[in-house]
Amino acid sequence: MQSSQEKIAGLRKKIDYHNYRYYILDAPEISDREYDRLFRELEDLERQNSHLITPDSPTQRVGAPPLKSFRSVAHTVPMLSLGNAFAKEEVIEFDQRVKRFLKSEAPVTYMVEPKLDGLAVELVYLDGMLTVGSTRGDGITGEDVTQNLRTIKSIPLRLLNNNYKKTPSRLEVRGEVFMGIKSFQALNRVREAEGEMRFANPRNAAAGSLRQLDSAITAKRRLDIFCYGLGVVEGYSFFSQGEILQTLPKWGFKVNPHIQLCQDIGEAIEAYYKIEKMRENLEYEIDGVVIKVDSLLLQEKLGAVPRSPRWALAYKFSPRQGITKI
Ligand code: IVH
Repeated sequence: MQSSQEKIAGLRKKIDYHNYRYYILDAPEISDREYDRLFRELEDLERQNSHLITPDSPTQRVGAPPLKSFRSVAHTVPMLSLGNAFAKEEVIEFDQRVKRFLKSEAPVTYMVEPKLDGLAVELVYLDGMLTVGSTRGDGITGEDVTQNLRTIKSIPLRLLNNNYKKTPSRLEVRGEVFMGIKSFQALNRVREAEGEMRFANPRNAAAGSLRQLDSAITAKRRLDIFCYGLGVVEGYSFFSQGEILQTLPKWGFKVNPHIQLCQDIGEAIEAYYKIEKMRENLEYEIDGVVIKVDSLLLQEKLGAVPRSPRWALAYKFSPRQGITKI
């Protein structure tokens, strides 16, 4: 017969897997009812065996006591910001600058990603366990919002282990926390009904929700994340941004589906127009694309100026034709 410990481990593995199907792949295999049944079974077993509860259990996303203030966290590698471009000419200049710096005329391969309009966070996994999560802050130090990030269902509490890659001893994952447009509107409707101030836009709503001292409040807000980069990684190495974005989902992280690998800057500019066309139909806000030199070796050669890397550029959309409120 299976011991409680084995049953608990089996249920956690199942729930993590179905969580991944639902929140990351958007392709559930079981009904919500069946999922709830598994979840309740795990909750019951853990109630009877409280000594077996561990922080990475799917039941442990909520319930931390409210904080008095946020601790500050130093980022191992600074979280930089990006240089901006608003016109095609500036993007072509960026490509020329990259080539000049590399002393090469050869076309550069770029990764083009939607630029998500939320707030940047860093998630630190030690031996596969989510240990600390922080905001970008000033890029050098951020705020420890671990408890709040743990409530976001699309953030894995432990790395998915599907034997695809060995687990790095230290993994720092960076991404953008955001609130979908529908969730933002629903939240504002509730706030209005309760006589509270409306949030001006989904980004403010996401920031306000993540920076709550009581994680029970964050848990009620529908926050989501797309991961797009790494800080320090120990025990695993990557060659390109494309490889990073392919690997992250295998560990259980959500990556934006509209990323495009481009063979030269011309293709990158086409990708910008393609993503701009999608913009109105997306259920979250983006304000441009980020164009990144794909090769990590070239990124390293290019390095950074004080504020931003030489290997990446934010190519912004022109401001939307807003509806004027009279
Ligand atoms: S890469 C050094 N990729 O834009 C590389 N950033 O202005 C910088 N952002 O603080 C980050 N989507 O909050 C990167 N696909 C994406 C992004 C993205 C949104 C934000 C991020 C960053 C800001 C830089």
